[in-house]
Amino acid sequence: MSSYPPVKIGLLGLGTVGGGVTHVLARNAEEISRRAGREILISHAAARNLDSTTARTAGIKLTGEALEVVNDPDISIIVELLGGYEPARSLVLRALANGKHVVTANKALIAKHGNEIFAAAQAAGTMVGFEAAVAGGIPIIKAIREGLAGNRLEWVAGIINGTANFILTEMRDKGRDFPDVLAEAQALGYAEADPTFDVEGIDAAHKLTILASIAFGIPLQFDKVYIEGISRITREDVAYAEQLGYRIKHLGIARRDERGAQLRVHPTLIPQRQLLASVSGVMNAVLVRGDAVGQSLFYGAGAGAEPTASAVVADIIDVVRTLTVDPDNRVPHLAFQPDALSDLPVLPMTEVETCYYLRLQAVDRSGVLADVTRILADRDISIEAVLQKEPPPGARDVPIILLTYRVREQRMNEAIAAIEALDSIHAPVVRIRMEHLNSD
Ligand code: NDP
Ligand code: HSE
Repeated sequence: MSSYPPVKIGLLGLGTVGGGVTHVLARNAEEISRRAGREILISHAAARNLDSTTARTAGIKLTGEALEVVNDPDISIIVELLGGYEPARSLVLRALANGKHVVTANKALIAKHGNEIFAAAQAAGTMVGFEAAVAGGIPIIKAIREGLAGNRLEWVAGIINGTANFILTEMRDKGRDFPDVLAEAQALGYAEADPTFDVEGIDAAHKLTILASIAFGIPLQFDKVYIEGISRITREDVAYAEQLGYRIKHLGIARRDERGAQLRVHPTLIPQRQLLASVSGVMNAVLVRGDAVGQSLFYGAGAGAEPTASAVVADIIDVVRTLTVDPDNRVPHLAFQPDALSDLPVLPMTEVETCYYLRLQAVDRSGVLADVTRILADRDISIEAVLQKEPPPGARDVPIILLTYRVREQRMNEAIAAIEALDSIHAPVVRIRMEHLNSD
């Protein structure tokens, strides 16, 4: 074994992930030091609840003052597991200014303040690891940044929020109610401190921001992501999609073409035969299309204490292994050299082309479907399938479901406005985007 002294870690936060990291580092200490070339010890931790039995058992010095850990001169690596924008941002910037390396699982922090944080790290010659920020235990950052570095990446599409996928799976498979499943996801430690981040797509948008940057070599631009969550998905839409051979998944999609980059997070119909359709519960999966490799699928646990700890500990080991490497020769944070990021524009959602699922509540009389199809035809929108259901007992409206071929969102917005203006249509049109995720 090496003669180097142990590397000391300062841990900020002893919640779900902090607890997981403490356990994994202790349980696998011997193998980890054989991999890293040195022993790795958590010597100092900050938490609000100082009764943490995890820390006490592991003999870690505990404080309620996170800044104390960040300023501890014996510590080489700060592991930030508090979550949120502040005080995480200030603490991370202070740690970097103090010459410490940082590992974080905080996607909100990286998506919103990553450009500033990576610039600070570059100036200080230190590293910031953030593998756990995207797709929990799946090593997707390393795969894209290093394993696929020879490719021009064309698109990335993934199920990147475990809580949302868990909710959609339980609603479809067991007919359970939304609030009930969300409460279970919270109890299992999957959900964010504010679970609306999971349900309304904000957490997935944070992750997509990071994926798009490392895939396309563009700065982090969270504010330009189109975001729609799962809170308006009904059991009827889930069932109708199934009858048409599709499944509704909450996807993050980053795609680029000659016009620019699309960054979008929304419920999406995908064909049942597509591998992503079989990804259930808290599992995540990211499908990447590169010009050389073709499609590659990365699958694994998207949330939870130990799967996330797996990614955090891998980053810690990476940092320890490269402590002596000249900063200019390290893998760049955003995969591309910092002075080689491109200014590819992010397209507004109205410019995005996709297929659509539309559900209409229409008066049950002849001619209604003809009016609707005329509106679509007038705008060159082709229909792939139509499903007209019997009205529920006692109801006077019938649900009509239409699947369309690809069309620009702006044109679909105009068509939906015209359909909603018909006196035979009684409720806002439900629109869910649809992707086939073929090899193009
Ligand atoms: P938790 O809420 O379980 O843990 C956060 C911990 O930080 C809590 O113990 C909290 O204390 C403590 N804390 C918060 N603010 C402070 C502060 N100012 N000073 C000291 N302690 C503080 O969150 P998670 O462990 O689930 O998440 C941590 C990070 O990991 C987040 O960024 C999250 O997005 C990310 N992540 C989480 C995953 C998961 O599956 N849970 C997966 C991937 C990433 P208290 O409890 O007293 O408030
Ligand atoms: N709340 C997140 C999720 C944690 O459910 O995916 C993992 O990032």
